[in-house]
Amino acid sequence: MLKYLAAIGCFGSALLSSTPAWVQDLPTIKSTTVELPAGDALFPGGSSAAAINNNCLACHSPDMVLNQPPLPKATWEAEVHKMINAYKAPIDEADVPAIVSYLVKTKGKD
Ligand code: HEC
Repeated sequence: MLKYLAAIGCFGSALLSSTPAWVQDLPTIKSTTVELPAGDALFPGGSSAAAINNNCLACHSPDMVLNQPPLPKATWEAEVHKMINAYKAPIDEADVPAIVSYLVKTKGKD
């Protein structure tokens, strides 16, 4: 019995006193520099693109729109409302006609 207790005592003190081998140094965090592609592109067209530039660039680049195939007006209207309803784009209804008219002029189809 005494032997048994001594064994436990040894084992216990070994656990408490020395640093266990499985404790590793924490990883060091290093700063790095990453060149991200520029995100300042606008829809082309100057003032005719004002409404779409003001409302449609908060979440994605113009390429997300300009890379779509030509679409009929009704589809563009539905697309703008999808952004408002599904993705909660904060777009004033009053701006929708100007946005749709730009889309029809730029990427429209009869
Ligand atoms: C609140 C954020 C937000 C705003 C503002 C926004 N969009 Fe989007 N848009 C999204 C998200 C999210 C997607 C889906 C991205 C994906 O699938 O990777 C998307 C995708 C699209 C697509 C690709 C087709 C599709 O339906 O997925 C088009 C076209 C598009 N948006 C047009 C517009 C237009 C036009 C406007 C301005 C009227 C606009 N977006 C404003 C969030 C937004």
